Amino acid sequence: LVRRRYESVPEAIAVDHADATPLFRQLYHSIREAILAHLIEPGERLPSTRVMAKHLAIARNTVTTAFEQLLAEGYLESRVGAGTVVARDLPIEEPLNIAGRYAPVSAPARVHETTPHASAAMSLASVLSLRQVATFEIDTPAYDAFAFETMRRLLSSRARRDFRTLFDGSDPAGLLELRKEITDWVWTSRGIRCTPDQVVITSGGQHAMELLVRTLVRARDKVVVEDPGEISVRTLLMGTGAKVQGIPVDDGGMCVERLEDLRSVKLAHVTPSNQYPVGGTMGMSRRLALLNWASRTGALIVEDDCDSEFRYSSRPLAALKGLDSEGLVVYVGTFSRILLPSIRLGYLILPSNLVQPILAIRALGDRHPPPLEQWLVADFIANGHFMAHVRRMRKLYAYRQNKLVSMFREHLSQWLDVRPAGAGMNVVGWLPPDVDDRVVAKKANDAGIMVRPASIYFYTRPARPGLLVGHSAVTSGHLRRGVRTLSTILSQPNGPENSILRQKLVAV
Ligand SMILES: Cc1ncc(COP(=O)(O)O)c(C=O)c1O
Repeated sequence: LVRRRYESVPEAIAVDHADATPLFRQLYHSIREAILAHLIEPGERLPSTRVMAKHLAIARNTVTTAFEQLLAEGYLESRVGAGTVVARDLPIEEPLNIAGRYAPVSAPARVHETTPHASAAMSLASVLSLRQVATFEIDTPAYDAFAFETMRRLLSSRARRDFRTLFDGSDPAGLLELRKEITDWVWTSRGIRCTPDQVVITSGGQHAMELLVRTLVRARDKVVVEDPGEISVRTLLMGTGAKVQGIPVDDGGMCVERLEDLRSVKLAHVTPSNQYPVGGTMGMSRRLALLNWASRTGALIVEDDCDSEFRYSSRPLAALKGLDSEGLVVYVGTFSRILLPSIRLGYLILPSNLVQPILAIRALGDRHPPPLEQWLVADFIANGHFMAHVRRMRKLYAYRQNKLVSMFREHLSQWLDVRPAGAGMNVVGWLPPDVDDRVVAKKANDAGIMVRPASIYFYTRPARPGLLVGHSAVTSGHLRRGVRTLSTILSQPNGPENSILRQKLVAV
């Protein structure tokens, strides 16, 4: 029985001739959505292909193609003598609220409950926002001086020689050629002796941390982090349900002597070459004390070494991992700072017994890193460009830091106590203790200046207010404008309403 016949085309069925989507596909979607939304009901008969084609001003063939697709998928049925009807046994009870192609996207009615970990990650994302190339953005390489042309040449030369190889490689540890280059590089530049088997290529430093945490950390494990320290790492650790403890830092990095009273620590995350985010290098006696502590207590040290190549005051210190003969240290490296963050390549150097578990966990996620970028970086290192690039950037960043620090001291010293950094891509300017640095940063961000509040990196209170300022990507024009904007923000009158000294952000 046919419940209703349409002599003309139901209003819900329409196409847009201005849209680039093929007309048969538009018609298919339109009919399907009308069915799913119960705008046309099971058993109802559609107008003939001829009527529909005429009404919609499209070819009859187009209608036939759309009908055939819907017949094949079971939305429509073809009945002898009754033409094409909406299938009677569609398992749809309630009308589905399917948004049409052009309907505004409204929030879905169904709320899927996310984990506390996802909520923590979301509040972190809202505070840190996505990195962008903007004045004073931290951790940002100099795009204006990057070796794009060299990379272009290397890539096209490899593509010309053997395009296929760019897609070869499904080893979860990453491309052997790149792992060999990394092995040589960390030996010459960081004093780390390892084999390519101990190297696992990751999608950046944070991914390396994620693999480690998923492989090693259980709920209620005790883990220690630097305080202040890297927020993403802390958030990742907290997401496992581990008990995270902050250990204060001073000019020499983590105050290792504070670890002495701690028992059964699973993992300690440290940035000994250049403490993140406030700077400072861990001296030799603390390094040895840290290794000693790990050896005695069984804790694993995670050495996060993201920007130590850029050391200005002295030669780069050998890595902690270079002193480790017992397998106490996992080393995390990244190309995000030396090359570009978007290249998404980093690496782990692991004690051999951790390689297989890490690779097994990796296989559950992204399986293996994509080979194309790995070839590019392997070629870049093998041809000597990497070393040259590091040298060039070290000089440029030292120059930019000097200029930035002297401009800040000249124009902003009334409010900001800026110290030159011995390494890395950022400097910190400390604010007076009663200033809410989040208010200052918010105002600066609104004016297009991407300084970050230092206080959010502190795990325990009281946090010290300050601004993290990236120097590596700042050209002289940006520097002048940035300093002007900051000086306007910082010099606002100290009236009770608009004083940065009194305003508090309600929520960050
Ligand atoms: C200390 C530290 N280590 C590692 C990373 C990881 O960076 P990426 O995942 O971009 O390599 C970051 C990111 O900002 C960082 O601050």
